[in-house]
This record gives sequence, structure tokens and C-alpha cells, in this order.
Amino acid sequence: MSTPSNQDPRLDQAAASDESLLAAHEKLLGKQPDEKARYKLLPLNLLFLFSGLIFFAGTYLNRYSGLFDPKIYNENELPGTGAPVAVKVDPLVLGKKQYDAVCITCHQGTGLGQPGVYPPLVAADWVIGSEERLIRLVLYGLNGPIKVNGVDYNGAMPAIGKVAGSGYNLSDEKVAAVLTYVRQQWGNTAGPITTEQVSAIRAKEGDRKAYVAEELLKFQ
Ligand code: HEC
Repeated sequence: MSTPSNQDPRLDQAAASDESLLAAHEKLLGKQPDEKARYKLLPLNLLFLFSGLIFFAGTYLNRYSGLFDPKIYNENELPGTGAPVAVKVDPLVLGKKQYDAVCITCHQGTGLGQPGVYPPLVAADWVIGSEERLIRLVLYGLNGPIKVNGVDYNGAMPAIGKVAGSGYNLSDEKVAAVLTYVRQQWGNTAGPITTEQVSAIRAKEGDRKAYVAEELLKFQ
């Protein structure tokens, strides 16, 4: 093993004179750090250039953004009169949506219901027959025994309309749409039910309880 030589002047503190130490420090202090690595202020002309660009961009957007309204950029959009356009909803589309949301759980997608529990809507007199009867049945619900296509049922059809005790509260428009839908699906070919018809019956009957079949059969 080699031991550091005592002759090495770097290890011999006492050997270095004050002058030689001062001289060595002087040399180090005099050395300037790398100029290029130093933090410098952004040159003023660049600062002005960027500020100018930001100001220009802001002014430009403010002037030409069109409030970011997609219609302003739609070259196919015809100039409107400013009057609101009434959107025409296809009752069969709206009706299917209501059917799939409400009725489908019981009467099924096929409209055939479930034997012994949920009666069919396909080719059923209750659906394709009297409009007065059908609207009342679905608005207010139905309890007790009922004969559908010659088969007896005895359950509870919930109130679907905007009436007291309804868990569904479908608007008159939606009730009309779903009734139009069931009257024209699965081979049913009865005429449509209008929102006005539903509103008229709701206004006449007010908030009444669910019907029983005999009451409904009085309506032709
Ligand atoms: C919670 C289950 C349930 C839901 C949801 C339901 N029904 Fe019914 N529906 C019944 C039951 C049960 C009967 C039979 C009631 C009885 O026996 O008195 C019935 C009877 C009917 C009838 C008369 C009988 C027939 O089959 O023609 C019509 C019409 C009818 N429902 C239409 C609808 C429509 C339209 C909807 C959706 C807006 C709907 N129902 C939602 C359970 C339901």
C-alpha cells in the first residue's frame, strides 16, 4: 500500500505561504463565469414585438370571432329572419322514445306483453278502437279485470300522464305521441292521436283516480 508522500506540497498546508494562497485565490476570483450562461433580460425590441402580437391577436379575435357562434362559419346557413323556427317533432319518433322508456318494461318490445300478466297492444281493441277510451286509460291508468283479445287479465296499469299520482308525468304531447306510436306499430293501422285530444280530456277529467274497465267501455 502506498502512502501519500509527505513531499507533495498540496498536502502540506504549512508549506504554503500566505502570499501563495492569496495569489491562488486572486487567480480564481478574477476568472469570470461564462457570459452566455448568464440570465439576461429579454431584449426590449423582442418584448415590444410580442406585446404587439398579443395586442393584435386580441383585437383581431374581438373583431372577427363572431362570438364563436358556429352558424357564422356555416356557409350553408341561410340568412334567417330572426324569428324562432318551430321544430316539428315526428310523433312516431317521439312516441317510440316514450314507449322504449316507459311501456316496454311491461308490454315488451314486440307489443305482445307477457301472457297472463301484461296484455298485448297488438291488434287489441283497446289500442286501435275508441280514441277517448285509449287516452283515458293511459292518462289515468286502469285497475281490475279486463278482457284483451278474448283473454282475461287482472292487474294494474299505471297512470302515465301529467296527473296526480302518476309516477311518470308524461306531457300531453308525449302521451299523444306514444299513443300514435302504439296505434301504428306491429301491424296496427289506426289513426294518430293529437296533443289537443289528450289536453282536452285531461282538462275535462281533472285529477281523477285510475279507471276500471266498465267505466272505459262506456266511451265509444
Ligand atoms: C308497470 C307495467 C306497465 C306499464 C309501464 C305500462 N302498462 Fe299498460 N298495462 C299494464 C297492465 C298490467 C295492464 C292491464 C291492466 C288490468 O288488468 O286492469 C295494462 C293495460 C294496457 C292497455 C289496455 C289493454 C291492452 O293491452 O290493450 C293499454 C292500451 C296499455 N296498457 C298501454 C300502455 C302504454 C301505451 C304504456 C306506456 C305509455 C303502458 N301501457 C305502460 C301494465 C303496464
